[in-house]
Amino acid sequence: MTTVESTIAALLAPGKGLLAADESFPTIGKRFKDLGISSTEENRRAYREMLFTTPGLGEFISGVILFDETIRQKIGDVTMPAALARQAVIPGIKVDLGTVALAGFEGEKITEGLDGLRERLSEYRQLGARFAKWRAVIAIGEQLPTMAAMQANARVLAMYASLCQEAGLVPIVEPEVLMDGNHTLARCEEVTGAVLKSVFTALIEQRVGLETMLLKTGMVLSGKECPQQAGVEEVAGATLRCLRRSVPAAVPGIVFLSGGQSDVEATERLNAICRPGGMPWTITFSYGRALQGAAMKAWHGSPANVMAAQTALQHRSRCNSLAVQGKYSAGSERAAG
Ligand code: 13P
Repeated sequence: MTTVESTIAALLAPGKGLLAADESFPTIGKRFKDLGISSTEENRRAYREMLFTTPGLGEFISGVILFDETIRQKIGDVTMPAALARQAVIPGIKVDLGTVALAGFEGEKITEGLDGLRERLSEYRQLGARFAKWRAVIAIGEQLPTMAAMQANARVLAMYASLCQEAGLVPIVEPEVLMDGNHTLARCEEVTGAVLKSVFTALIEQRVGLETMLLKTGMVLSGKECPQQAGVEEVAGATLRCLRRSVPAAVPGIVFLSGGQSDVEATERLNAICRPGGMPWTITFSYGRALQGAAMKAWHGSPANVMAAQTALQHRSRCNSLAVQGKYSAGSERAAG
């Protein structure tokens, strides 16, 4: 097996998923501020040290997505990627530089970071990364998204993915359809389907190997402000139907973002999506907030809380591991909680 293929097999190992710990400076700053933790370089380092030294992390977590600052930081004299490797966890890296307004398209965004990406990917590989992530953001509104914004984001994702494959890194291609708004489940399904079709058209045109990439997507959900909130089974049904219609079977894996769902909701819905089985791709999680929320709250910036925080991360990781096997239930929360 080539390195890229073995990386994919390891990331998609049965019962395991990814931890997204790649919050940019503004994002980690916001999460810390909400808890009254100051976002200093040392606090960010200590927080990620707490996450990555969680005992048995590699039992349920196959890969961690890092941020540029973190991949260069150390735990004692061990680099973060080496510390993860000791836990049998594969280090990856967020390589986009965030979103800006898409000129001419009010309310829509484009993701930056293609300039100099070839050189950055080569450096990240030397620093130990084996996969990369790029996030595009699509908002749902009355007139949104426009075809132009979907296609612009799809083309940029495809350029990124082809550069990753050239560099020997597995690209995680992430077009996130935001939960914000009062749209229905059906509208989210329609938009997610259109976005995925546009992304796969661009990937194929750009000669991206579908067999050596992963898709990261959101579940099909009712908008946060929609008065009619779809239930767990409805979400799972719409999500699977949408993915079956839009994601080629050549893609080895689909990993979900949590996108602002509560941690338990993200686990329950993942369980319902995975329970039927028999899909052409492996499905698992690549959660940020839904894995870290309780742990960050427990940690609260204090070394005295490290064990409690790690216990919270272990618990959510175990619950999501059960979910990808379709074996999660309300009892799983109590069992280890
Ligand atoms: P959330 O699970 O918090 O949405 O983060 C996942 C992620 O990587 C978003 O890019």
